Amino acid sequence: MIYLDSAATTLQKPAAVAASSAWAIGHLASPGRGGHRPAMSAADTAFACREAAAQLFHVDDPERVVFTFNATHGLNIAIKTMARPGSRVVISGYEHNAVTRPLHALDVDLRVARGGLFDREAVLEDFRRELDRGADLAVCTHVSNVFGFILPIEDIAALCRERGVPLIVDASQSAGCLPVDFQRLGATFAAMPGHKGLYGPQGTGLLLCGVDPKPLLEGGTGSESRRQTMPDFLPDRLEAGTHNIAGIAGLLEGLRFLQRQGVEHIAAGESRLIRHMGKGLWAIPGAEAFLAGDPSVQTGVLSFRLRGLDCEAVGEALGERGIALRAGLHCAPLAHESGGTLTTGTVRASVSAFNTEREIDQFLRTVQGLVQPQA
Ligand code: ALA
Repeated sequence: MIYLDSAATTLQKPAAVAASSAWAIGHLASPGRGGHRPAMSAADTAFACREAAAQLFHVDDPERVVFTFNATHGLNIAIKTMARPGSRVVISGYEHNAVTRPLHALDVDLRVARGGLFDREAVLEDFRRELDRGADLAVCTHVSNVFGFILPIEDIAALCRERGVPLIVDASQSAGCLPVDFQRLGATFAAMPGHKGLYGPQGTGLLLCGVDPKPLLEGGTGSESRRQTMPDFLPDRLEAGTHNIAGIAGLLEGLRFLQRQGVEHIAAGESRLIRHMGKGLWAIPGAEAFLAGDPSVQTGVLSFRLRGLDCEAVGEALGERGIALRAGLHCAPLAHESGGTLTTGTVRASVSAFNTEREIDQFLRTVQGLVQPQA
């Protein structure tokens, strides 16, 4: 099988990830829940993971790196801390349901800075206009999960800082795939999954906290047990209940892999593969590939359609031929609306550090075979 669905979950991980998770199941107990060795080792592992993440994302204090179950969990904490019914919230036109559904549930006054696909200037201009109408909060994805479009997050963050508008960054598709500097952005929160570009196991995520958050869950933290409200300090304020320590141990190895490889190096390799793929698709009659003219605005994610063929059916047919990817709306109808693909959806291929050019060539031959089956 050729795996091209890393925007959903990276499947090929560094070997140390699974080894460490398996080891943790037999050797690590619960951080902060005992003075015995398995509990203390668990606390050391959790702290090492916070430290590695703080270093990678430039967070000044590792305790402001909070473990979540996934990016959706972190985004819910961030959004529910910052927004209330009627809040004026500016979002990009490329947000995932993990952002739009919590905002919808809160009944906020939602404004979309749409911009054109792969047009960073237009996105920035729309953000500027919407922020100048008055805003209480901005939420923006760094990279579109559908098109791999890299939004001008540094410039959007500067607009927000200049106007004193808090910014929540959805780094689901950028963490581990592009450099993310939390301090330089000056963002209020940044949420990310552990199981995509960070190469950790599913069920892990990180929330980087620039302000004190409101807990989404209340419960035991192993600290200040007499009081009946959540501790005021991080990370305990947000980490009620037993940690996913096996996941965290694996995530730590994913972060170490990124430190060794270098995120810039991984980004360059993924960009090369996706351009090879996009140009290969362009050469196939009837294939429409959403490849940016400027390579610096697209990550290792590419959407495409095949004329006259239903996207879900193409995804299924490719699956039957050993190519794993995702087709449809990718939980991001707003992004499809902005990209002009809402009625059809797209087929999405997404690469990781483990894909090769040979795999992309095999993928292209398989697509070619779908379009022009041999007699
Ligand atoms: N949000 C993930 C995706 O884009 C699951 O596939």
